[in-house]
Amino acid sequence: MTGAHVEPLLSVDVSVRYADKPPVLRDLKVELQRGEVLGLVGQSGSGKSTLAMTILGLLDKKQCHIEGAINFQGSDLLQLSERQLRALRGRTIALVLQSPLSALNPALKIRTQLKEAWRAHASGSPADCLLKIRSALQNVSLPSDDGFLRKYPSQMSVGQAQRVLIAMAILHRPGLLIADEATSALDVITQSEILSLFRELNRSTGMAILYISHDLASVAGICDRIAILHQGAIVECGTTQQIFDNPYHEYTQKLIAALPRIRSVPPASKILSASAT
Ligand SMILES: Nc1ncnc2c1ncn2[C@@H]1O[C@H](COP(=O)(O)OP(=O)(O)OP(=O)(O)O)[C@@H](O)[C@H]1O
Ligand SMILES: [Mg+2]
Repeated sequence: MTGAHVEPLLSVDVSVRYADKPPVLRDLKVELQRGEVLGLVGQSGSGKSTLAMTILGLLDKKQCHIEGAINFQGSDLLQLSERQLRALRGRTIALVLQSPLSALNPALKIRTQLKEAWRAHASGSPADCLLKIRSALQNVSLPSDDGFLRKYPSQMSVGQAQRVLIAMAILHRPGLLIADEATSALDVITQSEILSLFRELNRSTGMAILYISHDLASVAGICDRIAILHQGAIVECGTTQQIFDNPYHEYTQKLIAALPRIRSVPPASKILSASAT
């Protein structure tokens, strides 16, 4: 069927302002297709988390003024009741945040925390729950034995803790995962491992990912398309290749020009002989 319009998974058209301040998001329009990984890049304070919170219905409506529509699987999320949103969050739309160790409860074993996440949206026997938990841990390449399940967050590395949070986020096989600076607190090697994990989960489960970051370089490796957020609006959106090869907006050009370039490193012998003189 050529020319058939494919309904996007998520279609956002919103303006948001906090109290009586100027708008943070101004007629922001962005679409995410099923199974797609879309990067949302913008500098600190540009409104990335505000957009994530608006999609998840987590902004305090008494403090914020929200206008527009967020269509997701046939309904406008802005029109849903708090009860309907609670049924959706963590089940159909999941969120992974920046600081894994502060997102986990330090006083509870990870087994308890994963069980709570499972029971928030599913019934079934304890054996079934444990099966789902072990399977989610295996999906994020963590051990799933009893010894690991008995660990407290403080007994894990930050990379392991982020994997536990991702396991929690994918427990209910959400259609959309929002990752808000999910790798920003990690060292470069762990960051690259977690980025590969997101890509792998996207391929194996078909889950769409809205990958939010201030770091254009980290987004480039995993995203199908990238949307650039600047002054409250999407100023440019294209495939990763288009954004890097042919950025048309001045702000995108600046972002690309600001990426670190690797200069050739002189051989060690030259450095040693220079320092000896
Ligand atoms: N609860 C709030 N009340 C008032 N203003 C807020 C609130 N939360 C965010 N803001 C303001 O909205 C703007 C956008 O903030 P937001 O946290 O969405 O940016 P961000 O792009 O996620 O930044 P970062 O990269 O630092 O996480 C900022 O100017 C911020 O000060
Ligand atoms: Mg943020």
